[in-house]
Amino acid sequence: MNTKRLSEKMEAALSEQMNNEMFNSQIYLSYGIWADDQGYSGVANLLWRHSQEERDHMIKFMNYTLNRGGKPQVSAIRQPGEEPKSLKDCFEKIFKYEVQNTENIYKIVDLAFEEKDWASWNFLQWFVKEQIEEETLAMDFLDKLEIAGGDRAKDESLLELDKMFGQMADEAELARDTDSENP
Ligand code: FEO
Repeated sequence: MNTKRLSEKMEAALSEQMNNEMFNSQIYLSYGIWADDQGYSGVANLLWRHSQEERDHMIKFMNYTLNRGGKPQVSAIRQPGEEPKSLKDCFEKIFKYEVQNTENIYKIVDLAFEEKDWASWNFLQWFVKEQIEEETLAMDFLDKLEIAGGDRAKDESLLELDKMFGQMADEAELARDTDSENP
């Protein structure tokens, strides 16, 4: 008896996204190595924590696919591209990767909608929300860097920022989580 509750197309799309999340984990891992090598241990710590978070995303896709009777395929992981040239470049690259990841997720949401696969659609909503946070987090870093002077920031400001990044929460605070009593 076939107990698979995913179309072949949906199974392949979820499997591909599982591998995309692993690629994201490698990106954060490699940028963390770059940051640590540059002396930004706070940023490195943040990026490595995030690398683990991306791996958790990968596991979510794996578990969901298995729970729906599918079987995800692990593919070779692409090598992260060029190293960042500066902290600003690092977070601009991260922002672009996150936007790309959001677009990849939206494509699967579209597919779930087309197929009326409401279970997958519901599962994917967690990622739609998560991507808002991920993009916001990268934007926050860029804003703070800009205030510190961007690429022309002084060493002391960068070290101060580095310390702050190392202590920052992993999740961005979103407007929807705030209200008049908790602005
Ligand atoms: Fe799992 Fe940063 O996207």
